[in-house]
Amino acid sequence: MPTLFEPIRLGNLELDNRIIMAPMTRSRADDAGVQPAFVAEYYRQRASAGLIITEATNISPMAKGYIRTPGIYTAEQIESWRPVTDAVHARGGKIFMQVFHTGRIALPDFLPGNVQPVAPSAVRAKGSNYTDQGMKEFVTPRELTQAEIAEIVGDFAAAAGNAIRAGFDGVELHAASGYLVQQFLTTNVNLRTDEYGGSIENRARFLFEVLDAMSDAIGAERVGVKFSPRMKFNDLEELDADQLYTYILPRLNEKGLAYIHVGDFTGEGWHEKLRPLYEGVYFAGASLTKESGEELLARGLADAVVYGVKFISNPDLPERFKRNAPLNEPDQSTFYTPGERGYTDYPALTQSV
Ligand SMILES: Cc1cc2nc3c(=O)[nH]c(=O)nc-3n(C[C@H](O)[C@H](O)[C@H](O)COP(=O)(O)O)c2cc1C
Repeated sequence: MPTLFEPIRLGNLELDNRIIMAPMTRSRADDAGVQPAFVAEYYRQRASAGLIITEATNISPMAKGYIRTPGIYTAEQIESWRPVTDAVHARGGKIFMQVFHTGRIALPDFLPGNVQPVAPSAVRAKGSNYTDQGMKEFVTPRELTQAEIAEIVGDFAAAAGNAIRAGFDGVELHAASGYLVQQFLTTNVNLRTDEYGGSIENRARFLFEVLDAMSDAIGAERVGVKFSPRMKFNDLEELDADQLYTYILPRLNEKGLAYIHVGDFTGEGWHEKLRPLYEGVYFAGASLTKESGEELLARGLADAVVYGVKFISNPDLPERFKRNAPLNEPDQSTFYTPGERGYTDYPALTQSV
């Protein structure tokens, strides 16, 4: 059985190890979704991960649900990612961009002309989100037309192409955490009566259309996808998650994707249920330690394991795992604040000893 430190093949890429950096929103971009120069330093510091997956990045102006999140749909945004991919590659690292559309979780504050957000159906999420004017309640979204759905599928494909132009090794579709793709999958958000709603087959249609469009644009071997079955976040209620993912995963086998990434946020044994259904590379994540990650590899429940918060505070996490060195504690108060504090100033081992 492989260890954390064994290489693994991902499509045409060879990853140095099986320790993956999770996609994490850090809200350092400007209002135009352009990354400042110091973002390259943050990712460069973490380039010893087998693979970095970037923070979720907006595919279009209507995708934006969080303050200071980056985009990948304007020339200036694309340019601002180039120093990031160059810096990671200069250290021999590999980097995928995570792309998303937040659907009903977007607040009008973030959208062009302060319009209503869009979603599979006009169902408001309970809860609120942070803006420059403080917390604001989610609003009732407008139901997408079929023409708009086709347009968004095209936006995902264009975003994937733009990411490759910015130098990324591939793109991860965010189909987790209650954003647009998972809103289509979920019974309490998707009340549609057309071919995008109702049966599991219909609810999964948007997911497959997006994955196919992205694969056509950049090659399936450069496309990954993240799921978070039954995650209690953004007012999701995935009542038939067992049947849903049991339907989806075997259908991904023929797609030739780079990997699938599953976050088990419920402790219901999702990797035990889902790993056997998928024949390709399987990343497992959420709340892992070095030991629990090693155990997942040893039990054949993952091919590589994903760490989030630990990578925020430990830029050299693989080295620390290798040496069984102590980990820096994360400072939650700077997870989403602008500027370099709590971002590029966590010490590496050689600096802290
Ligand atoms: C600050 C922060 C931002 C996050 N942003 C994203 C994101 O943009 N996309 C995503 O898929 N998950 C996001 N997550 C979830 C992580 O990718 C990961 O699944 C989660 O943190 C669990 O892993 P961990 O316990 O190792 O941190 C975020 C988590 C944190 C802590």
